[in-house]
Amino acid sequence: MSDNISVVILAAGKGTRLNLDIPKPLAPLQNKTLLDYVIKSSHEMGQIHLITGHQEDLVKEHVDKNWNDLDIKYVHQKEQLGTGHAVRTYFEGIKEANDYKYTIIACADTPLLTKEVFEQLKSQIAGKQGVCATFEESTPKGYGRIIRADKGFTIVEEKDATDAQRAITEVNSGLYIFETSYLKEHIFGLDDNNKSGEFYLTDTFKDGADVVPLKFEDKNFFLGVNDLLQLSVVERKLKSRIIKSLLTKGVRVIDPSHTYIYTEEVGKGSVIYPNVYIDENSKIGENVVIEMGTVVKNSIVEQNAFLKAYTYLTDAKVMVNATVGPMAQLRPGSIIGPSSKVGNFVEVKNSVLGEKVGLSHLSYVGDAQIGDRTNIGCGFVTCNYDGANKHKTIIGSDSFVGSDCQTIAPVTIGDKSYVGSGSTINQDVPDGAFAIARERQVTKEGMAKKFIKTKKK
Ligand code: UD1
Ligand code: CA
Repeated sequence: MSDNISVVILAAGKGTRLNLDIPKPLAPLQNKTLLDYVIKSSHEMGQIHLITGHQEDLVKEHVDKNWNDLDIKYVHQKEQLGTGHAVRTYFEGIKEANDYKYTIIACADTPLLTKEVFEQLKSQIAGKQGVCATFEESTPKGYGRIIRADKGFTIVEEKDATDAQRAITEVNSGLYIFETSYLKEHIFGLDDNNKSGEFYLTDTFKDGADVVPLKFEDKNFFLGVNDLLQLSVVERKLKSRIIKSLLTKGVRVIDPSHTYIYTEEVGKGSVIYPNVYIDENSKIGENVVIEMGTVVKNSIVEQNAFLKAYTYLTDAKVMVNATVGPMAQLRPGSIIGPSSKVGNFVEVKNSVLGEKVGLSHLSYVGDAQIGDRTNIGCGFVTCNYDGANKHKTIIGSDSFVGSDCQTIAPVTIGDKSYVGSGSTINQDVPDGAFAIARERQVTKEGMAKKFIKTKKK
């Protein structure tokens, strides 16, 4: 037998108090589910076994889709007769359960657990039969209380506790590691003679001489989600934990309580203003400034870039020294080259802008490519869609497109070319050419009075 570990995640519960149509393990936290966070923090410890019950099809579908590289094994617990019963079902359902030297038990509804917590727990098991993670809670209602003894300890559930026991403030977090042989031996000896009529996993500690509670200083790791209020607390803790670590790394977050950052990857020297949202898939380089109200999803923002207020990025990349916004939208596939400038009320989609491109005012650029140092005037539109298909617009380097122009794609404008203002370009413009496509101006002296109307009083 090697030192390997099985991680059993209890996820059979319904989560009635959440009042959602989905089972509790799939309750949303940020862009993921509660269960995803537990899988993320625990999967490096060993083989995951997931105990499913309520709406297990939905749980399996989600896990297979999002964690298919992990080969997670499922055990179905038909009736939820208690945490001890769930673990018994696991031993009955998984032949190899005995092959793991240690078994970790965690719950699907504690998403703030971290790799470090699992590591710490594991570091204490050698030579012992079981370790239970505990913490101090001044209002311990609902938790099992830890009753320490000279040798070993016991856990008394709230419902079964005496008044004196209820006053105990050290509580069971619901996270444990066991020597598998010890756990198996005791799990089949459990009974349901208690106030809940359930098989309590916690009773397995009763007979152990070499079982220990391991008290954690920070109870936030173990915050559970039973209702939407607790979910909102967990969500806040999640982001404040990330923001705290960014602050120590030299990222200036002006008002942490009103900032929503879920990625750890923000470089030193960056400044993040209030009401900014950055999701966990985004990467922000060093010395980037992100102003008020900007949203960044699944995007890369390189060093020294400047995202001005109320800019919205999805699946986009902003390269070094580029400036975007205020009030610009970069839709999927937008790549803004180094030192380029995308200004106010500009929308870019599936387009690559080279270096030092100017696209400063009120424009739509879709399915396009714009070469280095090309300047686009105000109010430029790529007419990329013919009602059925999208077509490409290519504009070369060092070119100039005047204000209020449209390109009717597919069309190519070459390098060092010049398009006069107000042009509708539907034919290719070769390198170095000047193109203009608008009516000639007609001016008639003295004729204005014919058109100026005065209002009748
Ligand atoms: C449990 C502990 C308690 C601890 C608390 C920490 C027991 C008896 N009590 O209480 O000491 O302080 O967690 O939060 O273990 N589940 C199943 N199948 C079942 C029953 C539960 O999969 O038959 C799952 C639930 O979905 C949940 C987890 O096990 O994810 C915990 O169950 P729950 O009923 O919430 O236990 P608590 O009463 O909170
Ligand atoms: Ca619970």
